[in-house]
Amino acid sequence: MESAKRKGGTAVGARYLYQGGGVLQGGGHCRFVCLLGILLLCLTISQPAKGLSVGSAAADPSAVGLPLGHAFTCANESTNSCDHRCTELLSMFKKQYSYGWAVRHESLGKVFNKLQCRNVIEIGTARGELAAYLLKHTSTGLIREYHAIDPFLGGYDSKDAMSLELTAANASLSWSQAILQKFAGLGCTFRLHYGTSLERVADFADESADCIFIDGDHTYAGAKKDIDLYAPKLKKGGALLFDDYSAQYMGTVNAIDELCDVNRLEFHKINEHNNYYIVKPHDRPLDTKYTYPSDEAVPLPPIPSY
Ligand SMILES: C[S@@+](CC[C@H](N)C(=O)[O-])C[C@H]1O[C@@H](n2cnc3c(N)ncnc32)[C@H](O)[C@@H]1O
Repeated sequence: MESAKRKGGTAVGARYLYQGGGVLQGGGHCRFVCLLGILLLCLTISQPAKGLSVGSAAADPSAVGLPLGHAFTCANESTNSCDHRCTELLSMFKKQYSYGWAVRHESLGKVFNKLQCRNVIEIGTARGELAAYLLKHTSTGLIREYHAIDPFLGGYDSKDAMSLELTAANASLSWSQAILQKFAGLGCTFRLHYGTSLERVADFADESADCIFIDGDHTYAGAKKDIDLYAPKLKKGGALLFDDYSAQYMGTVNAIDELCDVNRLEFHKINEHNNYYIVKPHDRPLDTKYTYPSDEAVPLPPIPSY
């Protein structure tokens, strides 16, 4: 396993795009805007909690099968239902494996053991293949809670095969049932947080996770948002693990580069399949509140030394 400063250790010679001094400005706005903001915040807080809402497929938790007031569903054979489409999906999960992703599993399993990942969050679980591998192949009893977050709705990224597969399947709720069936028997060791990472973030207490695997929306905005929302959920000394740090997903690369550069983090390579991780420092929170232009190509500035 390699450990390198990001500037020397990237897989794709990633751009150094952080332009310095770009911390989000929070003050100096007119009083009217602040008052309006407070009013809107009060109105939002007074609304009942919203459920799944992705693109045009908005719904509330009762409509998609989640019991109201419950943040997640445990994989529990006796209480979770499986409709006809769910049964079909389940048998498809058993017959086919997704896109050669399994090549990453063994090396990821070793790192999960090494990092002592007891309480895990996975953003983007798809067919639950990594989850199944880790729950089976890490040291016995290591993973006590595996929290999988996914809305199972396609169309989020045309470059991602899973996005196309989910669009074609058009069976979000049945997919969520099939995932719960797949892990039935594990009870609350496996927990499905059905919805997007943004919708489900309030399910998690700050500094509650040992390890967070980010493998959801690989656009720049998606990866940046996941880092920003979930970095506080990580314990001090916990690890943020990444998938698809590759030229195919420059948005993800850029979002991770920024995080490493701004926070001066060691960037640890896990394998040859674009998996890396960083460790949250014990002595300071991760700074994720910096500005960044966009994931459009910009000229490469020289990489500063530090
Ligand atoms: C590449 S697949 C995940 C593969 C899985 N981690 C594995 O290794 O087997 C990406 C998944 O991210 C999910 N996804 C996309 N946008 C998301 C979001 N905003 N929040 C949570 N999951 C998301 C998709 O539905 C899809 O299932």
